[in-house]
Order: sequence, then structure tokens, then C-alpha cells
Amino acid sequence: YFKTRSAKIIITINYLIFKILIMESQYQKLFKESIENPIEFWQEQAKQIAWNVFPTKILGKRENGIHHWFENGILNMCYLCVDYHIENGRGEQIAIIYDSPVTNQIIRYTFKELLKEVNQVSAGLQKIDCKKGDRVIIYMPMIPQTIFIMLACARLGITHSVVFGGFAAHELAIRIEDATPKVIFTASHGIEVDKIIPYKPLVDDAIQKSSFKPEHIIIFQRPNSKASLQNPTDIDYNAFTIPSTHINPVPVISTHPLYILYTSGTTGKPKGVVRDTGGYAVALKFSMKYVYNAQPNKVFWAASDVGWVVGHSYIVYGPLLQGCTTIVFEGKPVKTPDPGCFWRVIEQHQVATMFTAPTAIRAIKKEDPDGKLISNYNLNCLETLFLAGERCDPPTYLWLKNILKKQIIDHWWQTESGWPMLGIMKGIEDIEPIIGSAGKPICGFDVQILNEDGEILSENEEGIVAVKLPLPPGCLYTIWKNDNQYIESYLKQYPGYYLTGDGGKKTTNNFFYVMGRIDDVINVSGHRLSTGEMEEMIAQHPAIAECAVVGMADELRGQRPIALVVMKDGYSIEELKLEKELIEIIRENIGAIAYFKNALIVKRLPKTRSGKILRKTIRLLTDGIAFTIPSTIDDPIIIDEIKQRLLERGSF
Ligand code: COA
Ligand code: AMP
Repeated sequence: YFKTRSAKIIITINYLIFKILIMESQYQKLFKESIENPIEFWQEQAKQIAWNVFPTKILGKRENGIHHWFENGILNMCYLCVDYHIENGRGEQIAIIYDSPVTNQIIRYTFKELLKEVNQVSAGLQKIDCKKGDRVIIYMPMIPQTIFIMLACARLGITHSVVFGGFAAHELAIRIEDATPKVIFTASHGIEVDKIIPYKPLVDDAIQKSSFKPEHIIIFQRPNSKASLQNPTDIDYNAFTIPSTHINPVPVISTHPLYILYTSGTTGKPKGVVRDTGGYAVALKFSMKYVYNAQPNKVFWAASDVGWVVGHSYIVYGPLLQGCTTIVFEGKPVKTPDPGCFWRVIEQHQVATMFTAPTAIRAIKKEDPDGKLISNYNLNCLETLFLAGERCDPPTYLWLKNILKKQIIDHWWQTESGWPMLGIMKGIEDIEPIIGSAGKPICGFDVQILNEDGEILSENEEGIVAVKLPLPPGCLYTIWKNDNQYIESYLKQYPGYYLTGDGGKKTTNNFFYVMGRIDDVINVSGHRLSTGEMEEMIAQHPAIAECAVVGMADELRGQRPIALVVMKDGYSIEELKLEKELIEIIRENIGAIAYFKNALIVKRLPKTRSGKILRKTIRLLTDGIAFTIPSTIDDPIIIDEIKQRLLERGSF
């Protein structure tokens, strides 16, 4: 008995070692190919999607150094996401599950039903002469109509720009001004747990603030609270859509802008990241198989919002391209109705792959510290849970692993990349991640750690995370109407590299650690925000002479903004009153999602001798972390002044 048993164990161990070696070498082989022969590699991957005209020019470079993928290929993204599946026998498969704990609804749409809805919106758009080359802004909650509209735009070659519903009128106005949309789609309201957030007044306010005026505003009226359609430009969504029509998908060239997605940078003005069509389709299709190991017909759930890049890539286009069922979830990890909500959705809809942000897990952990609610559900269906949006801190990872007992993969990417740059390529490598690391480079991304002079650093040295050019398909190829800004912000500083804005290091076994931003961008609950933009807004208050906003550590949200303000001479206002006014300014302009709650009056800000504000030093001070005073500081006494002020205020 013992002999047979030992033999079995040895065979199993040998098999596992063999499997690991095979899988490892598969990853290494594929990754090497993608870096050494990108043209052949991506030409092969491009065969996985149905083009109208297959590209013969795989990678092109313009005079200004910007790369383009599949330049002369012709395709239609909506066709690939919807019609293609119907033509290939998936018409009756569920494409979208709308799960809304805030309205107590679950609605399912097959691919055929999805096509019907998309056609109706497309017909409406055609009727108002909105066509290829035009832009449409979508300011909507997490409801299926949002997806219908995105796909209808893609069907007609209209470039959409989805604006996250949590942004206030000012942010929407900036995007209207920049994207100059012919049409804006909105809904009467969004629902935040049990709070109704009227959208239409925000849209009206934004249009009033913008010098550019769209021709039409289409409003989806939700039950309970209807918007008043008082302007001549307002049209009810139900009156706008045209039933029983079939609209042919409009073929576009690969480089046609599928969407513009605005993201925070270091300046006050968000950057309009432009995504192409062909490169994005190829990259997403590749990622669904090789990164996520997501099989057609299975349920893929990204618990994010379509207003973010995760929503674009992995609620809408990625899963639908792959023939998966996607979930449009209008809820929160907690309070809708309890911290067991995620587990309920996984069981109820048999989710195979899930994607969420660490902040959502921390929110669940806070309300259900022992993870008791998970035992109410059978989660056998779940294979892997992916995390992104911010670094997953090891305690959160371990807590989740302990209660979920599934593979959990942290992976790193950003709005600009459009799909993961670091992670575990689950489709070809079945290994356990290293806790705290964002994984290994994904095919196509030659990730390097540089020093300030642009030289490649050795293993374990911390530096700037950059990607060697060319970037693979699917990544941004410009900033809307501003090639120069793209070059200046991302390509110019380290020639031959794309600058990610993150800092980190690489270990001997090729695992990378991405530790945070090296610029003035902060990450609040997985939402990317600019401290520079907040500073510009705060500086408009009549009491403020100058200010610095930094991201202080927050147990639940990862970071939250705090302002240090210097008052104008002779201006008198109580600190708490001023703080209240500044909070209102940020809520009014950016939105409640910024979670700006604190402002501290200081005599002076710490600066270098050349006058640069020492933001990192301020951050360390507010986090109470010991540090060495930078040698470049103009006046070290200021550090003590701020410490004293922090002591006086107590904890925030
Ligand atoms: N529309 C309008 N308002 C919104 C909003 C939206 N879509 N999303 C958030 N807000 C508001 C909230 O109502 C709240 O307003 P209040 O100050 O008036 O109460 C404020 O913004 C802050 O909200 P939030 O940051 O969501 O905090 P919370 O305590 O309500 O919830 C979490 C905390 C962690 C549960 C929540 O932030 C969350 O689910 N985060 C995950 C985000 C995510 O998935 N990001 C991934 C991007 S890839
Ligand atoms: P966004 O463009 O909104 O998706 O935000 C991208 C930024 O979030 C990145 O530049 C990182 O700073 C951060 N980020 C996202 N995912 C991770 C991760 N897995 N690990 C570390 N940082 C991350």
C-alpha cells in the first residue's frame, strides 16, 4: 500500500513540476516573441478577430515618432462584440446581466436582444445626422442603456467619451469643451445606495459653463424621479430610439478613434486619452484569453464603472469580444444591502472571473472583518479574482485569500495602456503570484525601471517605471487633438520609452512592484485624481495665498486629499469655516468622490531653494512617517511649524 501510495505521490509531484516548467516556458517563449518580433507576433494575434479587410501594414511610425497599429485594416467594433456572435450561433446566449441591488432588478439580454437595443439607438443617432467622425458624450449611471449607447456609437463610427457619473458639472464642462460632442446622453438620475443623484441638472449646468454647446441632449428617464425636459435640445430616450430597424455596422480604419477617455494628469486639465479601434480589439481579445483565461460563454464580472477604463475594457468591449456574459452592476461592495453583496452576485450569476479594486475589498473587510457572510454562498464557479486600480496591500490580499480560498491576482495598468501591463498571464502560466507584487510583464510590454537619467536600473533598485517603445496594440496613441501633449507628457522625457508616471522596482525573478505615483496624481478609492487640479480650485478662494494638496494615507480609500493652505495677509477666517468652504468648492467642482475633507492653515509651505513645493515631504508629515529633511529645503524650520499645526489639529 505504502509503495503504491509513494509512487503515486512521486508521479504527481513530477507531473506538477513538469506542468510548471511547461507553463513557465510557454510564458517566457510567448513574451520573448512579443518583444523580439512584435510585428509577426501581433499580426498573428490580429487573425483572432474578424476584420472587414485584414491589415497588411502591421506597425507604422509617423514623423513625430508616434506608432500606429494595423493602419490599413478595416473593421467595426460593435460588429465584433455583437453581430459576430449571433452569426456564430451565440444569439440566444446571455450577453449582459444587469444586476441592480439599488433598484431590486435583474434583467438579462441575449446577444440578439442586445443587437435589437443597439440598432434602436443607432437608428436614432442616424436620424439626427450623428455620424462617423462625430463625438458623443455619455454621462450615465450603471444601467444597460449606457452599454447600448456605447455600442451604437461604435456601430456608426462615432467616437464616444464616457464621463464617470460621480464627476460634478465643472469636470463635465471641461470634457464638453474639449471633445465638442454633437450629442450628450444622460439619465434622469443615478442611485448611490439609497440616495438619488439627479444627473440632468448637472448636465444643464455643465453645458451652461462650456463655451461649446451640443445640439442634442438625450435623457433616459428612470422611474421614481423624472428629469424635466425644458430645453429645445432635450429629447426623451424612448422617443429618440427607433424600433424594428437594422443598421449596418459602419466599417472604420483601424486607427479610427473608438473613444476618448479623460484622465487626471499633473495639470488642472484632464487628458483625453484616445483609443484606436483595431489595435484595441486585438489587444483585448488577446488579454481575455491569455491574461484572464476567460472562456466564451462564461460569466466575466468587472465590478467597476463604465466611466473608468476598467469599465470600457472589461465591462464592455473585452468580455463581449470574447463572447462572454458581462455584468452591469449598479451597487456597491457594501450597503447594497450588506458586505456579502459581491459573493451573492458571484453565486447567483455563476461568475467565473471577477475583477475589482482593493479598496472594495477593504470596504468589505471593514464591515465583515471575519468574512462570515461568504459562507452563505457557494462560490465553486469562481476561478480567479483579479485586482487593480491601486496596489493591493499585503494585509488586504491575505485577508481576501484566507476567506475566498481562490487564486487572487493583482495586476497593473492604467487608462493610457487600456489593458494590463503587469500581471500573471493566467492563460499560459498557472503560478501563484507574489504578494505585494503586480506580477511580470504582459506580452508586448517591455517594462523597465529607470533612474532619473533614463538609465536602466539593476534588480531591486527603486526607480521610474517605463515601457520601451513601441507600445503594443491597444494603448493610447495620442491625446485628443494634441499630439504634442502626448509626446511631451509621455515620450519626451526618456527617449525610446513611454513614461507611466509610476515608481517601483523589479526583483531577480522578474516580478515587479509598483509602489505609487511619482507625479501629482493620487488614487482615492481606485479613482485617479489630480492634486494640481484641486490646488487650482482651492487657490481661487479669496482667503488663499498659496496651497499644496497631497494624498495622505487612508485605511479604506488608499489615499485621500488634504490641503495645506497659506492665508493672504490681513484675511481673517476661522480654520474650520475655511475648511468647510474649501470642501464645498471641491465637491462642487470635482465631485464628492474626491473625498476632500481636510484643510490645515500653515504659515508657510516647505519649498526648495528654487521655490518648488516639497510635496513628498508634506505627505510624509501628514502620514506621520519619520524622514530625513531634504538638503534642498529652503528653511527647515517650516517642518517644525507644520508638525506643530498637525499636533494642534489632532488626528484627521
Ligand atoms: N455618482 C455620484 N456620486 C458618487 C458616485 C457616483 N457614481 N460614486 C461615489 N459618489 C459619492 C458618494 O455618494 C459619496 O458622497 P457623500 O460624500 O455625499 O456621501 C462620495 O462620492 C464618496 O463616495 P465613495 O468614495 O464611493 O465612498 P463610500 O464610503 O460611499 O464607498 C467604497 C467606499 C470603497 C465602497 C467605494 O468607493 C467603492 O466601491 N470603491 C470601488 C471603486 C472602484 O471599483 N474603483 C475601480 C476603478 S478601476
Ligand atoms: P487609472 O488610469 O485610473 O486606471 O489609474 C492608473 C494608476 O493606478 C496607475 O498609474 C497606478 O498608479 C495605479 N494602479 C493601478 N493598478 C495598480 C496596481 N495593480 N498596482 C499598483 N498601482 C496600480
